[in-house]
Amino acid sequence: MSNLSDRSTLPAEPLPPCQVACPAHTDVRGYIHAIARGDFEEAYRIAREPNPLPYICGKVCAHPCETECRRGDVDEPVAICALKRFATEQHDLSKGHAPGLTVAEPKEEKVAIVGSGPGGLTAAHDLARMGYKVTVFEAYPKVGGMMQYGIPLYRLPRETIDLETAPLKDLGVEFVTNQRVTDVDALLADGYKAVFLAVGSHVGRKLRIPNADLPDVWLNTEFLRRVALGEKIDLRGRHVLVLGGGNVAIDVARTALRLGAAEVSMTCLESCTTQPAHPWEIKEAVEEGVQMFHDRTFKEIVAENGKVKGVRCVKVNFRGFLPTGAPDMDEFPETEHVLPADLVIFAIGQGPDLSFLPQDGSIAQTPRRTIQVNPVTLATTKPGVFAGGDAVTGVGFIIDAIAAGHRAARSIDAYLRGLDPASVQPPEPQKLNDLQQKTISHIRHLKREEMPMLDVNQRKFTFDEVYLGYTEAQAIRAAHRCLTCGAGARVEETKCIACLTCVRVCPYEVPLLARGTANVPVDQCQACGICATECPAKAISMKLYSDEDMIKQIRDAVRKAKYNGEPAIVGFACRYCAYAGEDANVVKASLPANVQTIDVLCTGKVDALYLLKAFEFGADGVFVAGCLEGECHNDKGNVHAAKRVAYVKGLLDELALGNARLEMFHMSPDQCANMAEVVSTLITKVKELGPSPVRRS
Ligand code: FES
Repeated sequence: MSNLSDRSTLPAEPLPPCQVACPAHTDVRGYIHAIARGDFEEAYRIAREPNPLPYICGKVCAHPCETECRRGDVDEPVAICALKRFATEQHDLSKGHAPGLTVAEPKEEKVAIVGSGPGGLTAAHDLARMGYKVTVFEAYPKVGGMMQYGIPLYRLPRETIDLETAPLKDLGVEFVTNQRVTDVDALLADGYKAVFLAVGSHVGRKLRIPNADLPDVWLNTEFLRRVALGEKIDLRGRHVLVLGGGNVAIDVARTALRLGAAEVSMTCLESCTTQPAHPWEIKEAVEEGVQMFHDRTFKEIVAENGKVKGVRCVKVNFRGFLPTGAPDMDEFPETEHVLPADLVIFAIGQGPDLSFLPQDGSIAQTPRRTIQVNPVTLATTKPGVFAGGDAVTGVGFIIDAIAAGHRAARSIDAYLRGLDPASVQPPEPQKLNDLQQKTISHIRHLKREEMPMLDVNQRKFTFDEVYLGYTEAQAIRAAHRCLTCGAGARVEETKCIACLTCVRVCPYEVPLLARGTANVPVDQCQACGICATECPAKAISMKLYSDEDMIKQIRDAVRKAKYNGEPAIVGFACRYCAYAGEDANVVKASLPANVQTIDVLCTGKVDALYLLKAFEFGADGVFVAGCLEGECHNDKGNVHAAKRVAYVKGLLDELALGNARLEMFHMSPDQCANMAEVVSTLITKVKELGPSPVRRS
């Protein structure tokens, strides 16, 4: 069975940094490349494989992958998260969640999962696919955990959660909602052979400062949960001060604004450069009108007659937290002041509610009041009971909890089969080296495609989703920025004749000659394909563009182009120029049915062999559409393509087929909409020549 929880199939070679940084080790390069070539269903399949919640992650993942993206060393990281969202939006989730995923024969053993957040759902998904009978217990009315009761609607509409979690039932997972588990031993006594505790971090914390217990001093988690449960909270005219500077604090502040607060401000220990919330979240909150007060510690909630008037603060130089959890800081003398507010919301952290753990201490806790586990297996100190996610690590990211869910599922399966759970956990993958400055200097800059958002004046009054998603053309442009790290050229040493062609043609100065053969360092290669197409010994192949794949595409395209007695025309179109300004489907739809195109990322990848194959399969005419000279993303990929076209034209003459059957077009993105007109010149010439003599019926 193709087992999602089994990552032993991860390739041994170094992986792109984005894939290594993703706790679930998602094949980012794979799904982005699929989007770049317009194969959206394949993109969804790749993004879905290691992650049962790609749609949710595409909207709210903290995307550590983007922090590591090597494009960030050139200009800005690829919009990986937004592209995952796009890929998922192209797949009709209502028609099934996991195309092609297998489910093992049913097993007898029952497994209980406590908590339906991302960790619990992932473990449930994996264990159900392994054939176990899985029951998920959820304390609240709906599944999703903190995704459902912590993340505001304007970031994650609840339909997204429902759409993505509902199909888990099709795998046989039973959900028991509105049921808070209070006795883990009772679950084991009930016949559950293993238990996974994924209870999240639902309890907010207050500082013990004077007046912190007044009615108008609230907690982050409770506030967000009340809003998520649909309680009508009217903050019109209120002045809200949020204590804390993390992502949850930002959620609280922006939610307060949307509930009508007249003023919302935030204050935290950190400076404007060290505030822990994501920079984009801070920016969006400030745009919406949230005021930030940095470098402050809180001494007292100021109140008169039980009514909150503000928070007495002191300016500090904050250096971080000590191992004890206490802040390491100096207070500046004579800087005491009051930040005004009539409602204060603490958002300084949160932890799990572990009151349900056995009183006998058989499930040990850490000094930080989280569940103690073996970090490799996630086994607690009680046999058969495992734990993961925020209840173990403290507040983390959704994708961390998903990774923990996979780990727990592997461990539970091993435990139930009498194996050592540590033995089934895969090793951490190796990462590609950084790009060298020399390589970076040759990479063309491409502006990051920002996702459209609701206008700020509109969004701060509504819980409507702020981010609107990419159009197809935007997604493809965003995907084109991926450097496809590590998926470039491979040299077959026994074929290499050390002619130095690859060294000469590489626009990135990557190939070397070592010990008598060419070497293309995998961590620097930009996968432009020029060396592979130019190598006279055919000693170089491309990881992402195999000759077999291309030849299959050519055969299919020729078959489709044989239409209604018209000349069969096949084109190789560079995706950078041919569809840069337009939706590829719009351009393709404008072409007559006898013209079929094969998309390539740069015409530098179009081998003379492909042109000849098109004729061999029966095309009457063939064209290559590349960028304008000087505009190629791989410096001279289009120039090399033009030379190959000229070479094959010569062969066509020698074969008495007529060289006018083959044409190279150099097109600006603006000309792409007129591709039909451009190609009509070729069709006219081909008609004059008549059907290709090689053409079979
Ligand atoms: Fe378009 Fe090279 S990028 S031809």
